[in-house]
Amino acid sequence: MRLLDACLRKPVDATPVWLMRQAGRYLPEYRALREKLSFIELCRRPDVAAEVTLQPLARFELDAAIIFADILLPLEGMGIGFHFDAGDGPVIERPVRCPADLDGVRVGDPRTDTPYVLDALRLVARELGGRVPLIGFAGAPFTLASYVVEGGHSRQYTEVKKLMFDQPATFARLMDLLSDTVVAHLLAQIEAGAQVLQLFDSWAGSLSLADYTAHVAPASARALSHVTDLDVPVVHFGTGTGELLVAMRDVGADVIGVDYRIPLDEANRRLGGTVPLQGNIDPALLAAPWPILEAHVRDVVARGAAAPGHVVNLGHGVPPDTDPDVLTRIVSLVHGIAL
Ligand code: CP3
Repeated sequence: MRLLDACLRKPVDATPVWLMRQAGRYLPEYRALREKLSFIELCRRPDVAAEVTLQPLARFELDAAIIFADILLPLEGMGIGFHFDAGDGPVIERPVRCPADLDGVRVGDPRTDTPYVLDALRLVARELGGRVPLIGFAGAPFTLASYVVEGGHSRQYTEVKKLMFDQPATFARLMDLLSDTVVAHLLAQIEAGAQVLQLFDSWAGSLSLADYTAHVAPASARALSHVTDLDVPVVHFGTGTGELLVAMRDVGADVIGVDYRIPLDEANRRLGGTVPLQGNIDPALLAAPWPILEAHVRDVVARGAAAPGHVVNLGHGVPPDTDPDVLTRIVSLVHGIAL
């Protein structure tokens, strides 16, 4: 399978491609299901989650499926309640801001907390029959902590940084709880059929290298230490992480996901040519005239060839207003570029 080969630095017949948020609101067939069920209901029905996972694969020649779920789903079983508000995104019911807020917060157990994710993985793995690999995923401890402490999506990350600096013991305790929960979820996903894992540290780029290294990397490294050497490649992704790439590799990733802010040959240079890269089409350019987007995609593929392996992806998720036909063109363009 091309995607696994690229992650393992083996030769490929064409550059593999998948797209973050490849299942979702830009697809009319997804929106049709969403008219009947909320996002959480979609996730909690393994048959429906499996169907949504496979929707983009029915349209595009993608080189991987990613299980339809969310990085926040494990929180509920940890005793951290949340819901999705229409328009506002996720809302944490009681944000963690002091030691007492961690009373009753525990390490999650995927078998009892999110059995539906594992059931959906089994269904999709069976359906795919090894045609393309199935990607499992989790949020990295810091990105999860940013939601848990801020109470939802944030621009400045003021509260989570305040906890990090003013109450380091409480921050570290929260990171440990999240790290152990992430390990349990990743291991259970492998057992249920995930063949590649992605750790989303989407908001790590809000940190300086010094703060990432001191306060965040240890928890991510602890989480990944349990899933390395299992023959399941781990992609470590974040946005705005140009300055953190080496540190993100050092926590134990097999592939580094790069956002659209730095070109892949520069990312490869910063990493000393040591690791395959994933990325990094600018999602904003999906709305650009085709000649501009085409030139950008060709440039991404050319620059990615500098790395010891390259998986084409976006620098972040597919925007909801994307025309699906543009993705068809991108996938066939990427596959058609001679290596
Ligand atoms: O990539 C995929 O197709 C797999 C599914 C997936 C979702 N979320 C589905 C989803 C994955 C891998 C995620 C990861 C995720 N979730 C991240 C990390 C990646 C990133 O985007 O940086 C984060 C930070 C979240 C948290 C989250 N979930 C937010 C902030 C939101 C609301 C904003 C938004 O985009 O709607 C969600 C909801 C969510 N997760 C939706 C989907 C398809 C939209 C639900 C809907 O209204 O239909």
